[in-house]
Amino acid sequence: MFVDEIRAVVGSDHVFDGAGTSHVVDWTGRFVGVTDTVVRPGSIHELIEVLRVVRAHGRSVVPQGGNTGLVGGGVPLRGEVVLSTSRLNKVGVPDTASRRIEVEAGATVESVQIAATSVGLRYPVDFGARASATIGGTIATNAGGVNVLRYGPTRAQVLGLEAVLADGSIVSTMAGLLKDNTGYDLRGLMCGSEGTLGVVTRAVLRLVPAHASVTTVLVGCASVADAMSVVGRVCHASDTIDAAELMSRRGVSLTSRVTGEAVPFEAEWYVLIESSTSQDQEAVLARLLAGCSLVAVAGSPSRRRALWRLRDEHTSSIATLGTPLKYDVTVPLESLPRFVAAVGEAVTAVARSAETIVFGHAADGNLHVNVLGASAEQAVDEAVLTCVAAHRGSISAEHGVGTAKREWLHLTRSADEIAAMRAIKRALDPDGVLNPNVLLPPL
Ligand code: FAD
Ligand code: LAC
Ligand code: ZN
Repeated sequence: MFVDEIRAVVGSDHVFDGAGTSHVVDWTGRFVGVTDTVVRPGSIHELIEVLRVVRAHGRSVVPQGGNTGLVGGGVPLRGEVVLSTSRLNKVGVPDTASRRIEVEAGATVESVQIAATSVGLRYPVDFGARASATIGGTIATNAGGVNVLRYGPTRAQVLGLEAVLADGSIVSTMAGLLKDNTGYDLRGLMCGSEGTLGVVTRAVLRLVPAHASVTTVLVGCASVADAMSVVGRVCHASDTIDAAELMSRRGVSLTSRVTGEAVPFEAEWYVLIESSTSQDQEAVLARLLAGCSLVAVAGSPSRRRALWRLRDEHTSSIATLGTPLKYDVTVPLESLPRFVAAVGEAVTAVARSAETIVFGHAADGNLHVNVLGASAEQAVDEAVLTCVAAHRGSISAEHGVGTAKREWLHLTRSADEIAAMRAIKRALDPDGVLNPNVLLPPL
């Protein structure tokens, strides 16, 4: 029997029925699957053996890390086996000379951040789900977060990678060479492949020096256009800005209510800016913000944490109001204010009583559009995503396509591009063993 063969590979303690467990429901609660098998391999060899049994029985797997994904990509929607990386969670000792760290795929982002901080370095990928999201999941989704402006997305941190393909073969660039022009970039291909091309098992990650001093500033603005003009001014005049995050009055007051953190002042829109600072740079920042009347500067670590909670806890605070439809989009910076107005109108046109809350990583043009109280899901998807396409944006900035957006991929990727992606999938996974319900549009 299938499950007995899987047990023989990993031991009975590491195989169980998914019914009633968190492994079959995504973080939002919107995507619910079913599986008779959740398996937690303890080594790459066990993982390869699990895949052999899965193939022999004509089944498929959904790789799963922290299950914090927001596009329904990590749950077994059609009875797939859940391949959990929770036991592959070793974090190596950071190499301070070469500023890198070797980790297993199931290690959390936070555990890597802590290891880096302990030696005066920093892992710059950061976002609210850091305590549960894993390195494998962040590589598979090419996760972004609040520091992309300065350090790039996860792809830019991955110096080396090891992954198991559907047929059990291993691709590895774990030497982590900075320069290696021998053919196709298999490491880059795995980043953002959402578990469809291989199961990531290990990585070598780039670390950056920790800042000696940090300044966090909350700026109040009258409109999105004003907010974007502050973002443009600050980001273009200074190369020390780590983050520039956009939030609305509604989003901030809701998050304040849920978390108990006080809001320093009332404004229609807010920009949260973080910069590494020396005394000189502090003066530069003060000069750039001179025209802004509403400014709160976090002078202590606790004040800084309080301001960041108002940003980090947006997603969980919105979730207290119900299960939102979530869109994670990018638009060109110059059309971002127009897009915010247009998307609100587009939602209201198809779901009159729905509420739209927008926030995001302003400097990247990346907005998180959350729609609450809409029953016409398909119509809202279409309204929001066609609005994105009309503004020459992308339907996913950082969360990936998953199952939620796969039928809309054609809006921002051409037929030729989708065909090329299908050809890659067919070449590496001809039998559709790896995560069959995500990314590519249904045939
Ligand atoms: P999972 O949810 O388990 O899986 C996500 C996808 O990766 C699935 O397709 C899965 O099959 C695949 N996968 C997982 N592990 C592997 C592996 N080892 N090999 C191959 N495929 C694998 N995302 C951002 O980019 N930026 C943000 O700012 C951000 N903020 C968030 C805030 C909150 C509160 C929450 C809940 C989520 C947020 N996310 C954000 C989304 C999410 O945390 C990221 O997508 C993250 O990368 C998912 O990691 P995970 O380990 O939870 O992956
Ligand atoms: C954030 C998630 C939703 O930026 O990507 O909070
Ligand atoms: Zn985000």
